[in-house]
Amino acid sequence: MNPTAAPATRGASAPGLPLSVLLREGTRADHEHAEASGFIGLLMNGSLDVAAYADLAAQQWAVYSALESTGRLVRLDPRAPGLVRDELERVPSIERDLRFLVGDDWKRHVRILPATKTYVARLLEVGVDLPEYAAHAYTRYLGDLSGGQIVRRMLERGYGLHEDGLEFYTFRDIPKPKPFKDAYRARLDALPLDAAERDRAVAEAQRAFRLNASVFADLGAVHHARPASA
Ligand code: HEM
Repeated sequence: MNPTAAPATRGASAPGLPLSVLLREGTRADHEHAEASGFIGLLMNGSLDVAAYADLAAQQWAVYSALESTGRLVRLDPRAPGLVRDELERVPSIERDLRFLVGDDWKRHVRILPATKTYVARLLEVGVDLPEYAAHAYTRYLGDLSGGQIVRRMLERGYGLHEDGLEFYTFRDIPKPKPFKDAYRARLDALPLDAAERDRAVAEAQRAFRLNASVFADLGAVHHARPASA
């Protein structure tokens, strides 16, 4: 439990609040911290190079491969109808991006950084635990449909990339992100979680943001960007 968290999320089981609100409020500070990472800032303002972006894509490949392999099992959980969505699946798109950015033998050239391995290990450890899987899915997929769309525009502008190489950020089957995000939040809110499970979901989402910030820090170390200020 995060003792410094805003009252709304302390005892995150505040019964009246929908899970999607608890997740959003409970991760607001971690979101600002992740956004402030030097690597993503420099990547977005065009100060790095396509190789740095390809390195990020390789880390995302490892993370989504783990998230989507457990997602296929969570799909079978009768408590979570419709939480795992085909429209959100990213691995095939990331693989096409890496083939475009690195070449057909991209698997032989990409390196998975230590922070990414830690993130993947946590995703596999969480496995089909519903509140914790939901926390990781929320953190990644709602992020991709929100800030991710800003990141895509900046990559287009900064590195002259268009469709090819940016398929990760392109959700072909989600023409309108806003109503899709609202429906996704409604599915999160409908999960039959008890108070302790809601607490665990918020704590896991905070952890997911920190795991992402650590991946940015590792990428920053490789690509000479300062880490997010502590
Ligand atoms: C520089 C990087 C980033 C930018 C510019 C950015 C920007 C944004 C923006 C503008 C929103 C929409 C806020 C709203 O609907 O009012 C958002 C939402 C979100 N972002 Fe980020 N973001 C960044 C990084 C991240 C990272 C690294 C993650 C997690 C891995 C993340 C996860 C999320 C999530 C989960 C939401 C949805 C919040 C909710 O509606 O519950 N973002 N982001």
